[in-house]
Amino acid sequence: MEHQKWWKETVVYQIYPRSYQDSDGDGIGDLPGVISRLDYLAELGIGAVWLSPVSKSPQDDNGYDISDYRDIDPMFGTLADMERLIEEAGRRGIKIVMDLVLNHSSDEHPWFVEAKKSRANPFHDYYVWRDGDPDSPPNDLGSVFGGSAWQYVPELGQYYLHLFSVKQPDLNWENPRVREEIYDMINWWIDKGVGGFRLDVIDLIAKEPDRKITGNGPKLHEYIRELSRATFGRADLLTVGETWGATPESARLYSNPDGSELSMVFQFEHIGLDEKEGWSKWDLAPLDFLKLKAVLSKWQTELGGKAWNSLFWNNHDLPRIVSRWGDDGEYRVQSAKMLATLLHGMQGTPYVYQGEELGMTNVRYPIEDYRDIELLNLYKERTGRGYPHDEVMASIHAKGRDNARTPMQWDASPQAGFTSGEPWIRVNPNYSEINAAEQLKDPDSIFSYYRRLIALRKDRKAIVYGDYELLLPEHRDVFAYTRRLDGDTILVLCNFYGAHVSFDLPGTLTGDRQLLIANYADEPPRGTLRPYEARMYALQA
Ligand code: GLC
Repeated sequence: MEHQKWWKETVVYQIYPRSYQDSDGDGIGDLPGVISRLDYLAELGIGAVWLSPVSKSPQDDNGYDISDYRDIDPMFGTLADMERLIEEAGRRGIKIVMDLVLNHSSDEHPWFVEAKKSRANPFHDYYVWRDGDPDSPPNDLGSVFGGSAWQYVPELGQYYLHLFSVKQPDLNWENPRVREEIYDMINWWIDKGVGGFRLDVIDLIAKEPDRKITGNGPKLHEYIRELSRATFGRADLLTVGETWGATPESARLYSNPDGSELSMVFQFEHIGLDEKEGWSKWDLAPLDFLKLKAVLSKWQTELGGKAWNSLFWNNHDLPRIVSRWGDDGEYRVQSAKMLATLLHGMQGTPYVYQGEELGMTNVRYPIEDYRDIELLNLYKERTGRGYPHDEVMASIHAKGRDNARTPMQWDASPQAGFTSGEPWIRVNPNYSEINAAEQLKDPDSIFSYYRRLIALRKDRKAIVYGDYELLLPEHRDVFAYTRRLDGDTILVLCNFYGAHVSFDLPGTLTGDRQLLIANYADEPPRGTLRPYEARMYALQA
């Protein structure tokens, strides 16, 4: 059996604090708000919360631009609130996983303020600078948020690198002093009792901009090993890297069972299966379902026994899964439960993004109602280049990050119970129908289903540690697989689409079985599934 670890057996819940719960009426979620919802999280049964950044920040990229790593942004509360959150969560058996943004800081961080003063300033070398003329940047590296990745500073006659916005200058990891400062800061948080870290775009830290290498630079794993040795390697923490460029080979390094790097990484291969190949996420294409099966199964088998998977459909950068690959109309409830079953049945640590447990959906706002820097830049850039407005809006409605960032829908009261004031971004108008209060009292709700799924993992080791095998790889509608551990066999059957389907299982899997969970109340005829039906069984030996 796999090496046992608490972070393999738990389920993580991601909170995007500015959209979770406001406690003071300013329209922005905050830490006291999160604390007030801990009982809800305990009821769901999750064991850790990944908190998107709450550190001091000018909020150019909603907190992913940090100006003080050791303090909390007043918008979210105080350091004392954070300490109280760690303690209150701990009393409920929930660990707090902090988001660490180490690839870049804010341009308002004192390091950068100093760095910009002169080439001789001791902090200058904390960032990545290149000489140049005002109208010819060092090269054509682009920023993820559009435009050049180089910004000219006339007083210095130099450019600095920013792989994200101009207000997110990249830190220079080649400088050992930068690395030491970062390790000190992480150790300071470990001593405060956090349960782990999510490492933002960690695969970019070893960039070599002159060779136009951004992700997976040659020194990447060396840096991560040093980081682990100097900080979280000494504690039993959950660490997860955000690695857009991970392959199963690199994931086996990142998540080496010897503990030299991280617990696990987020890989994104399945996330790009509904865009035009070689284009960007905004260039839409239908989902290739057979490829989805192949990709997820590849990660299951290639990491099995050698590394550990993170399982997710959603986060604060991705559209809502029920709108994306389920059906947010007639079959919203069934398809949300099906997608949950499919994911939570696999080997790896499942992540639930706030509101996913309610089946929250995407929004279709006019451009004025959006707030995200990436989406607004895209709109300007594409309409400027002559793309038709409707086409750009179709991309934004399908893929915009604000789909995930509308306020959490707590109840049917004004602003969905999120705030007593004006929310920083509009509430999804469907909150009177889709909200936590309704679902908490309904045993058939999506929330209740997630709760049962999460509880099931705690009962059945085969769901956590069992070996994975894909069934029916060529079936055009059904996603089916088994998990096996010491004679215990779990069978997961999911109909990914909205029509009735039939299929044939291998004879060895057709014996007596015990139902563990399903999203329809009664059994279908053997070898068939109804629209978006999901069933998980334990096979009798
Ligand atoms: C990651 C975060 C995203 C942020 C970016 C820059 O991708 O998830 O929200 O914009 O890094 O920090």
